[in-house]
Amino acid sequence: MSRILVTGGTGYIGSHTVVELHNAGYKPVIIDNLSNSNIKILDQIEKIIGVKPEFHQFDLCDAEKVNAFVQANPDIQGIIHFAASKAVGESVQDPLKYYHNNFFSLINLLNAYRGKNVNFVFSSSCTVYGEPDVLPVTESAPVKKATSPYGNTKQIAEEILQDTASAYDNYHIIALRYFNPVGAHPSALIGELPNGVPQNLLPFITQTAIGKREKLTVFGNDYDTPDGSCIRDYIHVVDLAKAHVAAIKLLEKGNPNGKYDVFNVGTGNGYSVLEAIAAFEKASGQKLKYEFGPRREGDVVKVWGDVSKSNRELGWKAELGIDEMMASAWAWEKYLKENPLD
Ligand code: WQD
Repeated sequence: MSRILVTGGTGYIGSHTVVELHNAGYKPVIIDNLSNSNIKILDQIEKIIGVKPEFHQFDLCDAEKVNAFVQANPDIQGIIHFAASKAVGESVQDPLKYYHNNFFSLINLLNAYRGKNVNFVFSSSCTVYGEPDVLPVTESAPVKKATSPYGNTKQIAEEILQDTASAYDNYHIIALRYFNPVGAHPSALIGELPNGVPQNLLPFITQTAIGKREKLTVFGNDYDTPDGSCIRDYIHVVDLAKAHVAAIKLLEKGNPNGKYDVFNVGTGNGYSVLEAIAAFEKASGQKLKYEFGPRREGDVVKVWGDVSKSNRELGWKAELGIDEMMASAWAWEKYLKENPLD
């Protein structure tokens, strides 16, 4: 059973990918420093797949620990690298934390595999496109000046990976550009666990609906969109996790596109904030308390992906719609109320 390293594997997308790797017959191996996740997620994953995933707790910024792990685990067949700081707002307040954490961990990992054949899947983001000129946005769209240090770390990481793949012959790399991950595993045993006040829309919606937050503020309703609120391509986290398994399989087969490749991972559909709220109310049967507030600095007005390359060449297509995204997010919030993990 091929062992696949999942860095950040106790996090939101990482934990869902651990489940899907297991379901696809792989043996996931997690490295996580638990700086932005909860160790209890390992027990939750065990409830879903029946085995507790192999777990190593250390910081990937510690080169010695990374090298020791790689030496002791020569049979790792592939790496899916999630571990990174990812809060847009925090990155503006503390850019050095983001540049240090996101680049040192990536470079330590790549360095540890010098001379060793490695299949490497990287967690990138549609944020690299900024405000696209053409929609839906394709992988060949220009990468625009990032609007946050977080977004900048994704852009620069992609350049590091591209240069690494072209300079050395042993790295085979795919970067997945996520649109907006939402929802939770259908078991409602794992899902998004925001630290403190949620920055992202969906957890704020579900925490408002469950009564943890007084109301949602919609950041702006005067944009140049049909209902004035921003448009995003929301993708179910389980579909997103399956895209990572598809990327590992493509690398194992040998990617005919070459040693560095990029894929959009979204549904190809755009929903406005107000449409997302309406979909949540329909799926949950809960009326949501919200009000309009000022625009949020740095927000892109509208972005949704052209996912035809992923459908065609990654052999992957999103299967779950907005209703399942909202219903699963709500089921997870209700589970957390009865079974607090913190
Ligand atoms: C979505 C929409 C907000 C909260 C970012 C990163 C991306 C990925 C996901 C990390 C926007 C509106 C939100 C709220 C609101 N990375 N909103 N009230 O900004 O599209 O993407 O997070 O996980 O790489 O760029 O996601 O969920 O923050 O916002 O009105 O309380 O919801 O203005 O239009 P975003 P988001």
